[in-house]
Amino acid sequence: MTETQFTPRVFSGIQPSGNLHLGNYLGALKRFVDMQQPDMETIYCMVDLHAITVWQDPKELAHSTRELCAGFIAAGLDPEKSILFNQSQVPEHAQLAWIFNCVARMGWMQRMTQWKDKAGKNQQNASLGLFAYPSLMAADILTYHATHVPVGDDQKQHLELTRDIAIKFNHDYGVDFFPITEPVIEGAATRVMSLRDGSKKMSKSDPSDMSRINMTDDADTIAKKIRKAKTDPEALPSELDGLDERPEARNLVNIYAALSDQTAEQVLAEVGGKQFGEFKPMLAELAVSKLAPISSEMARLMGEEAEIDQILAKGAEKARSIAAPILQQTYEIVGMVGAKQG
Ligand code: TYM
Repeated sequence: MTETQFTPRVFSGIQPSGNLHLGNYLGALKRFVDMQQPDMETIYCMVDLHAITVWQDPKELAHSTRELCAGFIAAGLDPEKSILFNQSQVPEHAQLAWIFNCVARMGWMQRMTQWKDKAGKNQQNASLGLFAYPSLMAADILTYHATHVPVGDDQKQHLELTRDIAIKFNHDYGVDFFPITEPVIEGAATRVMSLRDGSKKMSKSDPSDMSRINMTDDADTIAKKIRKAKTDPEALPSELDGLDERPEARNLVNIYAALSDQTAEQVLAEVGGKQFGEFKPMLAELAVSKLAPISSEMARLMGEEAEIDQILAKGAEKARSIAAPILQQTYEIVGMVGAKQG
């Protein structure tokens, strides 16, 4: 099977559950913006159907969806250049997910580390949706025949499963219909760690707000969180291997590199030998200069709710024009009567 027969098309999504944080920004959103190029079709989705796999207060879900859309636009996504929409407005995602639920195997889902982490010890009480989560994710991607999916490191396993679903579907039905998608996990900050514990991923579910920088934080809060970030007593090294066994130091260097569009090596060449007392204010200044304009633009856009809703509705219409024919062809392949037989 060749991957080149499909036109390059980028798809990715973010859950509108709670605050957008620096990990989402550096691992995903900033890279969505980088991929918004004239020769590339880019489709970015607020995955509200994924969000409800764990309980969401309805009012908060609606607020978070609009806020995420504001974040997308404030970070540089242009609704004229990229298709921006929320998942539930394009029913083809859920329809294709059902087909994929019948392709994916129980064992594949059981192996997912995100399922194991999120369901914890009480799997019997987790929602069926949480278990089937990766199948909906595969549908998100494949209903556009997307070829490239920019994500942070934690989504790698889900993207491998997406490939497995595409391969099994193509094999079972004897077709070459779904592309074998490429994960795009690149840049200096594919895994941003907690500011309080360098062994834990920065995440919206961490009970400590000091562990993460939220995209809605103001300049003072950002600076305070960086000042208080956990570090070690050593000076920064000049070479990358000097960061071995120093997860907190590595994390701050990676954040600095991603925010300034450099590699960690380039950053160390500049700051090697400095103490954290000197490096942290540099990082705080950089973070504030990059993030504060985004958070103030998000706040402004949140005052334009009707405009956001219109952007999402328009985006959904464009998305459906791509997704509907692909779902239709999938139904034909599967043998659903009523689907136009070719
Ligand atoms: P979500 O909403 O948890 O996260 C959105 C994106 O942010 C990245 N990310 C991080 N990157 C670096 N460091 C971190 N600490 C960090 N935390 C989160 C995630 O890797 C992700 O790229 N299942 C997905 C959403 C999804 C999706 C899709 C993605 C649904 N359908 C189809 C791609 C394609 C998720 O929960 O992301």
